[in-house]
Amino acid sequence: MNILDNIDELHALLKTWRRRGHQIAFVPTMGNLHQGHLQLVQQAKSRADKVVVSIFVNPMQFGQNEDLANYPRTPDADIAGLHQHAADALFTPTPQLIYPRGLAAQTFVEVPQLGDLHCGANRPGHFRGVSTVVCKLFNLVQPDIACFGKKDYQQLAIIRQMVIDLSLPIEIIGVTTERAGDGLALSSRNGYLTAEQRETAPALYQILLQLKTAIAAGNHDYRALEQHANAQLSAAGFVPDYVNISNQHSLTLASDAAEPKVILAAAKLGTTRLIDNLEL
Ligand code: PAF
Repeated sequence: MNILDNIDELHALLKTWRRRGHQIAFVPTMGNLHQGHLQLVQQAKSRADKVVVSIFVNPMQFGQNEDLANYPRTPDADIAGLHQHAADALFTPTPQLIYPRGLAAQTFVEVPQLGDLHCGANRPGHFRGVSTVVCKLFNLVQPDIACFGKKDYQQLAIIRQMVIDLSLPIEIIGVTTERAGDGLALSSRNGYLTAEQRETAPALYQILLQLKTAIAAGNHDYRALEQHANAQLSAAGFVPDYVNISNQHSLTLASDAAEPKVILAAAKLGTTRLIDNLEL
């Protein structure tokens, strides 16, 4: 695996691959790779000749009181996992390389409407940071396809919209969420949970499953169902941010029994914010 931290080397490698006619898949990450990330690499591998992974803990998507400084960084384990999954290149830019004039001076990309809902309402600037860095990384790598986890459902919808709005010739693949045996969606932030919180955490997914069952049984009072789920989360020890039964495409609150739906949820356990979702 080629490990690169500068743009000239990255471009030279990509040029060689393109000359040989290779299809290139891209998996952007912030490192601390777990089985969910490695599943993205596997999917990318199955769809293209060469797979580029990036590891960049993107300061632009962290709020002032969020965990940028403490975000887990495990480069050795990440490289070992990527070797095992036969990634072809790892790109590890520095913040100086991505934002040479600093964050305040950086041109940004913002996807309106989709980016304002759900997590966007609770984490101002977060999705601007995500779409800006992903757009930049897309321009640097110029992949044919890019893989993102469905666990970050709103992020995936925003990237899909950005690619359409900016006419980027990249196919976006959404990959099914990897879960622990007890149902907890894999996330780098699970590592922040205490042993007791880790026992409570799967309740988030269980509550989503119960909602799905209630809707399948014909309960279409979505706002009442959301309220009930919030109360269940609080009773389990979470501080809920939101549980929203939404349209799968617009992500606006669902009102029609016939529209394709997804339940989106975010809740805090102690200081750790967990998100999850379930497509109906
Ligand atoms: O999902 C993530 O890990 C990040 O939001 C991403 C897409 C790598 C952008 O920094």
